[in-house]
Amino acid sequence: MRTIAVIARKGGSGKTTVATHLALAAHLRGFKVLVADTDPQRSALEVLKGRQAEGPQRTDTTGPKLFALQMGAVRDGADLVVIDTAAGAVEDVANAIVLAELSLLILRPTFLDLAAAVQTVETVRRLRKPAMIVVNQAPHPRGGIEAPAVKRALQALALMRLPVVPAILRSRAVYQTILETGRSAEEGDDPAAAQEVAELWGFIERFLFRARRPGA
Ligand SMILES: Nc1ncnc2c1ncn2[C@@H]1O[C@H](COP(=O)(O)OP(=O)(O)OP(=O)(O)O)[C@@H](O)[C@H]1O
Ligand SMILES: [Mg+2]
Repeated sequence: MRTIAVIARKGGSGKTTVATHLALAAHLRGFKVLVADTDPQRSALEVLKGRQAEGPQRTDTTGPKLFALQMGAVRDGADLVVIDTAAGAVEDVANAIVLAELSLLILRPTFLDLAAAVQTVETVRRLRKPAMIVVNQAPHPRGGIEAPAVKRALQALALMRLPVVPAILRSRAVYQTILETGRSAEEGDDPAAAQEVAELWGFIERFLFRARRPGA
C-alpha cells in the first residue's frame, strides 16, 4: 500500500481538486483507494459524496489519527491512501508528510504561492521525506510557448531543488464543474483536461508503484 499527502500552506491552491482527481484516477484503474480528509471543511468528502457511480472509500480524520487509519487501510487491503489537508494546518500536515511515501505540494504559478511554498519545502526537507511539486491552475501556453508566469515559477522552483511533476494542470472550467458530481475530469467532456489528469496520475503511479500491480 502507498500513501500520498496533498499539501500546501496557501489556501485555494487546488489540494482538494488534485487529491480527489488522483483518488479517482487510481480508482478508475482498479486500485482500491481510501481518501482521508483531515481538513475540517471536509471538502474532499463533500466532492465524493456527490458521486453516483462506485468510487473511492472515504473518511474524515485528523493528523494524530492518520497512523491508525493507515494500519486499518493495510488490513483492509487498500492499495492507496490519499490524504487531503487544510491550508496552514502545520501539525496535521507534518503527520501526513511523515506517513506518506510521497507528498505533493500544490502550487499556483504566482508570487504569493511560491513565497508560501518556501517554508513547506523546508519542512519536507527537514522531515527527509519524498516530495514533489504539482503546478496547478496554470495559464495556457500560447502558440506552443509556455506562459511567462509558468516559466518564472519553474525557474524559481529549480532554486528550491524540489522535483516538479512534469504534468502541469492548467486553469480549466471543467475542474470546477465536474467535481460537483463527484466525477473526475477523466470522466468529463474536455479531452485536454482528461489527458492532463491521466499524465499526472501516470507519473505518480510509476513513481509509487513502479512495476507493481494493485494489491501488491
Ligand atoms: N486547475 C484548475 N482550474 C480551474 N479551477 C481550479 C483548478 N484547480 C482548482 N480550481 C478551483 O480553485 C478553487 C480552489 O480549489 P481547491 O478547493 O481544490 O483548493 P484547496 O487548496 O483544496 O483549497 P483549501 O485551502 O480551501 O482547502 C476551487 O474553486 C476549484 O474548483
Ligand atoms: Mg481543500
